[in-house]
Amino acid sequence: MTVTQSTWSPSSWRGRRALHQPGWPSDERADASRQRLAKMPPLVFAGEARALRDALARVGEGRAFVLQAGDCAESFHDFSAITIREKLKILLQMSAVLTYGGTLPIVKIARIAGQFAKARSAPTEDVGGVELPSFRGHMINSEAPHPEARIPDPDRMEQAYHQAAATLNLVRAFTKGGFADLNQVHAWNQEFVATSPVGQRYEQLASEIERALRFMAACGIDLVSERRLHEVDVWTSHEGLVLDYEEALTRRDSTTGDWYCCSGHLLWIGERTRGIDDAHVEFFAGVHNPLGVKLGPAATPEEVLELCERLNPARVPGRLTLIARMGADRVFDLLPPILRAVRDAEHPVTWLTDPMHANAFKTASGVKTRRFDDVLAEIEGFFAACLRERVWPGGVHLEFTGEDVTECLGGGEAVLEDHLSSRYMTLCDPRLNARQSLDLAFRVAELMRRP
Ligand code: PEP
Ligand code: CO
Repeated sequence: MTVTQSTWSPSSWRGRRALHQPGWPSDERADASRQRLAKMPPLVFAGEARALRDALARVGEGRAFVLQAGDCAESFHDFSAITIREKLKILLQMSAVLTYGGTLPIVKIARIAGQFAKARSAPTEDVGGVELPSFRGHMINSEAPHPEARIPDPDRMEQAYHQAAATLNLVRAFTKGGFADLNQVHAWNQEFVATSPVGQRYEQLASEIERALRFMAACGIDLVSERRLHEVDVWTSHEGLVLDYEEALTRRDSTTGDWYCCSGHLLWIGERTRGIDDAHVEFFAGVHNPLGVKLGPAATPEEVLELCERLNPARVPGRLTLIARMGADRVFDLLPPILRAVRDAEHPVTWLTDPMHANAFKTASGVKTRRFDDVLAEIEGFFAACLRERVWPGGVHLEFTGEDVTECLGGGEAVLEDHLSSRYMTLCDPRLNARQSLDLAFRVAELMRRP
């Protein structure tokens, strides 16, 4: 049965196959958590979700570009004003490079304030020679290396909600309260970045932006009252994996009567949970947020068209963002038939590349990593595929951190295999550090100038 407004409800997904759900050990405790969450205030508002949808519609038309980035998995432990601020700094820095280099507005979407649950490829993992149930994100269990820590705990949904609320509060304060002011463009360069060649390249660009601002002021433009120079919109997003959590935060918008999932502005369906008849597609078909869907190398044009019909039957521009993660060596072969099918069916889709998730591998010593060059190569392959099919390459979806970690190999000041263990801090997948991220932004800006 397909979803219609009359048969859908926030709980109608419960009749479907729901993959990668926590399997809480106690139904009563899980119910109690859900009920408490359902009484909490929404984290985001319907009007904000609509504003992001409109921004994504402009991206779909080739009038803007998306930078979506953040941790693979947010942590309950690594949570402070400083880590949030450092993430915002690199996001703002990359956006400045992309706006200036690509001369287009950048829609900034953080993987933040809700990215606490992971679909894992195997139910168990090897931890120092011991087989344990997999760590599945702090919304579900703990990464500590003993079996009790791995038991799902529904109270974690509430902890995730409270951390998301505090995070979002700070993000709103930073982005509206002066920190994101374009006059601060130099201040976003952290010291460990500023001393590197890419940091110095950024300093130069920041000085050019300052000069451009002074030029506009000299022309008589009132820069003080131009709000857009002093604040930015940073939207929140996460994979909508744990449907107990997402359902509990779903609210009916009083102005339109439509349902919105108020845990984040944009929610995406992961590669492992996008089955057309499964619970995640059922749930997200009924909420009006802008949605993303990850597409891995096995995705077929037919499947993707079905997802478009199901998730965006009214063909609302900005409603659906497709995020291709095919692998550096495969994207140019696998993506064009899908781009063509969607384009020919006249579905208004915003296309992003996730150059991270199909390019991971383990080193000889067993460390999960990614190469900067593979990440860049997948982005280049994505741009080439889009160019060939006359589709706008709408943006990039990255896993990064503002910190000086050594998780991905390569980049301008190359991280080498021997360095990986020195500051390998991620809870889940390896992230680009701030230098590698900035380096990538310069490369992407060059690609944006070409189409
Ligand atoms: C992720 O974005 O962290 C993720 C697990 O992605 P995917 O669904 O593409 O594997
Ligand atoms: Co990841």
